[in-house]
Amino acid sequence: MLIDSHCHLDRVDLTPYAGDFARLMAATREAGVSHLLCVSIDLPRYGAMRALIAPYPQVAVSVGVHPNESAGGSPSVADLVALAADPRNVAIGETGLDYFRSEGDLEWQRERFRTHIAAARTCAKPLIIHMRDARQDCIRILREEGADAVGGVLHCFTEDWETARQGLDLGFYVSFSGIVTFKAAAPLREVARQVPLERLLIETDSPYLAPAPHRGKPNEPRFVAQVAACIAQLRGIPVEELARVTSENYFRLFGSPPSRLTPP
Ligand code: NI
Repeated sequence: MLIDSHCHLDRVDLTPYAGDFARLMAATREAGVSHLLCVSIDLPRYGAMRALIAPYPQVAVSVGVHPNESAGGSPSVADLVALAADPRNVAIGETGLDYFRSEGDLEWQRERFRTHIAAARTCAKPLIIHMRDARQDCIRILREEGADAVGGVLHCFTEDWETARQGLDLGFYVSFSGIVTFKAAAPLREVARQVPLERLLIETDSPYLAPAPHRGKPNEPRFVAQVAACIAQLRGIPVEELARVTSENYFRLFGSPPSRLTPP
């Protein structure tokens, strides 16, 4: 049993499945992926995403606005808390800071990030954090806003060990995507080897960032198996154990009350 702790199911390329989402989900299950967390990027598409996953109880959802979404689309704390009342919702995000893909004065990004943390604290749900080229501000704001009260995950982690350690100190989990399989990612593999097993998560971030040997092609949740295999090998443990531990971690982080997500 594997869990894809971060994917964008409404954006996955369905061409290999003749456009049929149900076939994608069947292939995902056949590949041994038992649960998925479908992560929100913006609010205009949230309703369609929620409707798409509705028939699949193994799929949980988050609500949030990605840091690279335009400055105009910033929700209020009340907006986020209202959408998070959904019993299928297990987290707030993805949120965070991305100074790589956005330019200019990014105070609006920091403000939006603070709003998400406040919402997570209000509804006592964990945060899904995206950080790129912004690790100092990101950790600083997590601290300033008391994000350790709810914890969460540093998703698609690509930073250094020091940043991982600071996140771990705040009670966060660290999640690795297909990037860990890339040839040039040796320093990241070293971080993935060091993160305590009980704080480790795996994800695809589908449809982005397909792991080797699928690199450059559209990503999909069943490729989380390649991420699992890579990290198991790095750590010298059987892939079954890596799968078991990361699944336990997933349910510990996202499955505790008030959510109704439970292991099978
Ligand atoms: Ni994502």
